[in-house]
Amino acid sequence: MIYAHAVITGASSGFGAAFARYLAGCCGHLVLVARRVEALEALAGELRAAHPALQVTVRPCDLAEETARRALGAHLAALPTGSLLLVNNAGLGDYGAFDSSRPERNRELLQVNICAPVELTRALLPRLTEQGGAVVNIASLAADLFIPDFALYAASKAFVASWSEALRLELRETGVRVLTVCPGPVHTGFGEVARRSGTRGGDYPLKEWFYTPIETVVAGSLAALERGCPRFYPARRVRAVAWLLRNLPLGLLRAVMGRRPRRNREEGA
Ligand SMILES: NC(=O)c1ccc[n+]([C@@H]2O[C@H](COP(=O)([O-])OP(=O)(O)OC[C@H]3O[C@@H](n4cnc5c(N)ncnc54)[C@H](OP(=O)(O)O)[C@@H]3O)[C@@H](O)[C@H]2O)c1
Repeated sequence: MIYAHAVITGASSGFGAAFARYLAGCCGHLVLVARRVEALEALAGELRAAHPALQVTVRPCDLAEETARRALGAHLAALPTGSLLLVNNAGLGDYGAFDSSRPERNRELLQVNICAPVELTRALLPRLTEQGGAVVNIASLAADLFIPDFALYAASKAFVASWSEALRLELRETGVRVLTVCPGPVHTGFGEVARRSGTRGGDYPLKEWFYTPIETVVAGSLAALERGCPRFYPARRVRAVAWLLRNLPLGLLRAVMGRRPRRNREEGA
């Protein structure tokens, strides 16, 4: 797997930074996208030192802003000729009940989780089909669920998974591969960002054994892309849960999700 360019959104942390470290060895030019410039510069420095032949571009961008997304899309579409891998990874969650969610936060979540992958992919499709390449869309195990106190996030990932699967079928004849990645819980910066201020218990209420190492997600995703896999659930236990979720009667799933402990009580409650 050799790409002339690999573009990773959300490269300042978590999966994105891990994808950058893996892809540094198999592409000529890495474009790192996120808002936190210092984190991107630190990662770029590390990668340049480890891979002297690699070109690394730091591209600060707030993906919640439509004009910034449009400028980024135009910039990426005009990159020098060559195959391109787009990793639509940037995303955020919001733990807590929908009735107490902040409208600005909801808008930000929808813009970053949904509008950014859709618009960047659309902007890059002409060059992807002409010059070759692939798209990796980071959805979530949550895409197979409806989750009280995590409602908008799960719905946004259901959107990503559905759109990404359909896109893959549309592009079958073009040679452009599209992979949907559905990780279960992984320790990254995600939980801290998703936790609302003034609340406690910031992470998923899950047992440690259910967490997947980040390397399993990233290395497994790139191997799945290579195999031409449509969808990848990293870790066997995550695959098993996904299978169960898809095969449970809807009424039973509703009953299970309805009994899930509510979360994000106010501090001191
Ligand atoms: N961790 C998990 O358990 C898990 C499970 C399933 C799926 N996922 C998905 O995996 C993806 C990566 O998340 P992660 O776990 O690696 O979390 P993370 O460590 O919090 O990383 C999220 C990345 O998204 C970027 N981002 C957020 N808002 C942005 C904005 N407005 N503009 C540009 N970039 C923005 C962040 O960069 P800046 O803050 O610097 O902008 C950061 O680099 C997300 O799509 C998430 O939904 C995570």
